[in-house]
Amino acid sequence: MNILVVGGGGREHTIIRKLRENPEVNTIYALPGNGGIAQDATCVPISATAIDDIVKFASENAIDFAVVAPDDPLAMGCVDRLHAIGIPCFGPEAKAAQIEASKVFSKNLMKKYGIPTARYETFSDADAAIAYIRQGSFPIVIKADGLALGKGVLICEDEQAAVDGVRAIMLDKRFGDSGNHIVVEEFLEGPEVSVLAFTDGKVVKPMVSSMDHKRAGDHDTGLNTGGMGTIAPNPYYTPAVAERCMQEIFLPTIAAMNAEGRTFRGCLYFGLMITKDGPKVIEYNCRFGDPETQVVLPLLKSDLLTIMHACENGTLDQTEVAFSDGAACCVILASGGYPEKYEKGKEITLNDAESAANVQVFHSGTALKDGALVTNGGRVLGVTATADDLGSAIQDAYAAAKKIRFEGMFMRSDIGARAMQACNND
Ligand code: AMP
Ligand code: GLY
Repeated sequence: MNILVVGGGGREHTIIRKLRENPEVNTIYALPGNGGIAQDATCVPISATAIDDIVKFASENAIDFAVVAPDDPLAMGCVDRLHAIGIPCFGPEAKAAQIEASKVFSKNLMKKYGIPTARYETFSDADAAIAYIRQGSFPIVIKADGLALGKGVLICEDEQAAVDGVRAIMLDKRFGDSGNHIVVEEFLEGPEVSVLAFTDGKVVKPMVSSMDHKRAGDHDTGLNTGGMGTIAPNPYYTPAVAERCMQEIFLPTIAAMNAEGRTFRGCLYFGLMITKDGPKVIEYNCRFGDPETQVVLPLLKSDLLTIMHACENGTLDQTEVAFSDGAACCVILASGGYPEKYEKGKEITLNDAESAANVQVFHSGTALKDGALVTNGGRVLGVTATADDLGSAIQDAYAAAKKIRFEGMFMRSDIGARAMQACNND
């Protein structure tokens, strides 16, 4: 079988490594891939958002199955276009990808179908938003409607910050057109849990839960990033919480999307907050999370390609989705300056970081330059270790991460520390 994977980050590298475990897989093409993915797949220099070029490539290269991993091509209808030329895909069509692509859409969906989430109002006029904020309590949360690389969320401590935030998003267009509409919502408190779930639009099979670490600095300080590390499973996601999530959030969301004529097939990501009033949805993503995938898929015992086919064919109820009882930790190695300005092109020395059987190095932002591996992004590598328990996974991930060198490299030193504390308090 020939497989096409759209995307070129750590998430895609993890998916490709897992797909390779299926003996029926021959060639995997990554569009565009990256310097590390090149060791596991055939990289083709076509951007993940060049939909016409992707469709042309797929039609000319006998592709049997396509995996569209990032949010942008999903929202742009890449899966719809591949379906139109008869190629089965893993990933939602554009009208289902709206669950991530428009926060106004997803908030209204939750309100209409009674799915627990933060109270909110939506606005397309800055003056109306400011008038509403002046009557509110603080902190308050302002979100740009559209895709904004995970940066379109402002948590405002007081009225002035909130008013400035509305102006920045709606009038100065800090996040471009994604700020034409905004959501203003209640600030929620509690531990956050990420749950990725496979669905064929009929049944939903959650994967092992995980915890992201979004801030750049130790102890959750500094700017928000795409994610500096992850652990799985998340200790706050107890069996009782999982059952509530299934009944109150996962099943109602699948049913709501069907009722709206937007059946979701693929990986639906639930960003949850476990508040004192129960679990609530912070956000939906229409895809695998990054770097959640780097800890979730290494724990998957079942065959990924079989599951992906089942999501497309509507046979997920008959398909095994089993995870190991162990734990995983992924530590992200980032370029100095990230998430702000950083330099690229620094030579990377991996040493024997990947020598242990329980360690994998997934490439997020790397490139090959004259045969040498160099940095090519803010998040450069994700070092994942799996083990029987979380403490060993954390220890092994850090031991491997510390073998790697590139100029300006930095990592958080406390990935998994909060989860360990929660485990010990049990
Ligand atoms: P999002 O892009 O919607 O996931 O938001 C990014 C981050 O902002 C989340 O991971 C939360 O830490 C935080 N956040 C978003 N919405 C809220 C909220 N209503 N209350 C508190 N924190 C929030
Ligand atoms: N790690 C969060 C995301 O993928 O959006």
